[in-house]
Amino acid sequence: MKDYYSNPAIIILTMIIMSTTACVSYKPKYNGEWQRHNLQDDAFYTVYLIGDAGNAVKGEPNIVFDHLKYELDQESDQSAIVWLGDNIYPIGLAPKNSVYHQDGRYKLQAQLHTMTNYKGKKYFVPGNHDWYTYGRLGLRRQELLIDSFLQHTPNDANQLNYFLPDKGCGDPQTVELTEGIKLLLMDSQWFLNDELQKGDQSVCDVKTSEEFLEKLNSEIENNSDQTLIVASHHPPYTYAKHGGKFSLKSDLFPLTQTVDWLYIPLPIIGYLYNRLSVRTSEQDVFHPNYKTYRDNLSRNLEAHGNSIVASGHEHTLQFIENENQYYVVSGSGSKTSEVGMGKGSLFSTGQKGYAKLVFKNKNQATIQFIVPGQFQEHNNIAYEKEIEF
Ligand SMILES: [Fe+2]
Repeated sequence: MKDYYSNPAIIILTMIIMSTTACVSYKPKYNGEWQRHNLQDDAFYTVYLIGDAGNAVKGEPNIVFDHLKYELDQESDQSAIVWLGDNIYPIGLAPKNSVYHQDGRYKLQAQLHTMTNYKGKKYFVPGNHDWYTYGRLGLRRQELLIDSFLQHTPNDANQLNYFLPDKGCGDPQTVELTEGIKLLLMDSQWFLNDELQKGDQSVCDVKTSEEFLEKLNSEIENNSDQTLIVASHHPPYTYAKHGGKFSLKSDLFPLTQTVDWLYIPLPIIGYLYNRLSVRTSEQDVFHPNYKTYRDNLSRNLEAHGNSIVASGHEHTLQFIENENQYYVVSGSGSKTSEVGMGKGSLFSTGQKGYAKLVFKNKNQATIQFIVPGQFQEHNNIAYEKEIEF
């Protein structure tokens, strides 16, 4: 170990790593001052955004879901919630005869139970983990469980479908939340992973990645007079590990990414592995499929006006403004991750929580990031900002 640290190349590399990772942590970060706003009691419409919530542990308290349920119980039907994927960790819903079935079922039901009294609209989109191991079949099992459970919750809005897109399709599609506000849902994992497009797509509107982009673009164009909330699992912009921002720990001790306690110092391997993997995995923003997805989505939204894109995937809360588009990362429903700041970042934190979009009218809203158990002086609000569409 002594020889290892007396090598000048190792010392220089360690210093480079330290300088590039210094600002990546679990702590909240702000670009400038922020302040609380007085919101009217009766919001025009409210949208809850929570992602990567599929890791509830049986027998352990869940402060995020308790806080969310408390808020949802008080909401009227002029509201909606979107669960942004990775609804079950680490694999999709196993068949009933599998030893993994009950665990997956518990993790999903922990989320569903937050909505037993909730009067608003309820939506789930899939994430990459929902596809793992069991593919389309696991996803379909999840869809059926969600749809059958939510049919028995308050349904003043006569909602029929809760898990979208249906049947393992990628299909970008738009639903109306209220007059003037629409929600565009799609399965970004279907687009990013070439293998998923090779199965039977006969029940799907969209059968190829080209058709996916065409449908996405036409949905954006056809709703140019609407306030548009885009909801899918993968964030176009993120400044944590999927966006190439690595913590000192993951660069110096890369094996801790797989096994929490494996603190073996491998700075060169860690530094190179992290920067290489972010370019070769379709789960990270530098992969060609990911770039195509992001560039196409951002370009078309920019032509449409101001929109908000809500995603999970990264286990953080982030608010980013780029080219007049608002990007919300809300992926810390049940997991946490270290995060930094980057182009357009106004706020980020690696703490558990969710986001809430409170509309004053269809063109004005306040985005809030809620961290249950923290920020007591601000009603658990870690950050908020007024935005316009
Ligand atoms: Fe994910």
